[in-house]
Amino acid sequence: MKRLTFLLVALATLGGVVAFRAPASGQTDAEAAPSYGVKIPPGYRDWKLISVAHEEGNLNSFAAVLGNDLAIKAYREGKLPFPDGTIIASLHYGHVSSEENNKVFGRSQSFVPGSPTNIQFMIKDSNKYEKTGGWAFAHFKDGKPGDEALMNTCFPCHNQAKARDLVFTRYAP
Ligand code: HEC
Repeated sequence: MKRLTFLLVALATLGGVVAFRAPASGQTDAEAAPSYGVKIPPGYRDWKLISVAHEEGNLNSFAAVLGNDLAIKAYREGKLPFPDGTIIASLHYGHVSSEENNKVFGRSQSFVPGSPTNIQFMIKDSNKYEKTGGWAFAHFKDGKPGDEALMNTCFPCHNQAKARDLVFTRYAP
């Protein structure tokens, strides 16, 4: 009986450790995205701002476009194509009216980011992803990668920005 109690305590402790680890690492442990085998790059939330975007239509979203150091350097120096190792992230949120802020303004004029909708990445490796213009594309919703059908849409559309190395967003000073 004593042994069994010990075993149960040990198991409970182990369970506690495992349960504790999962949320602490946020979204970085997500499965690899189909098509390109990319995982969420660690530390992306601390990258520098390239620009912002708002889309209406079905998306009705805000995007914050961030870049790792290589991306920011290339943007600031106006260098194209982007060097290998460049990563550009697009963090998407709902576009919602802020009642709290509108009260202060005395009229309806404030819109703020709602819940996160998805995060998307473009990762440059001109050899590895040669077939798709040197870029891997990745999409995660609640930490889960986008399915194959969705991932097949990225390159054909971004390829329309061929003159700017498949990147649409311009640097906002
Ligand atoms: C129908 C065209 C279209 C498709 C499909 C598309 N994108 Fe984009 N993407 C854009 C446009 C236009 C922008 C810039 C405007 C904006 O952010 O809303 C953009 C911006 C981005 C950015 C910021 C860098 C840049 O090029 O401006 C990333 C990262 C990105 N998309 C990833 C993806 C991924 C991953 C997929 C596939 C799941 C995808 N996109 C599918 C048109 C598209």
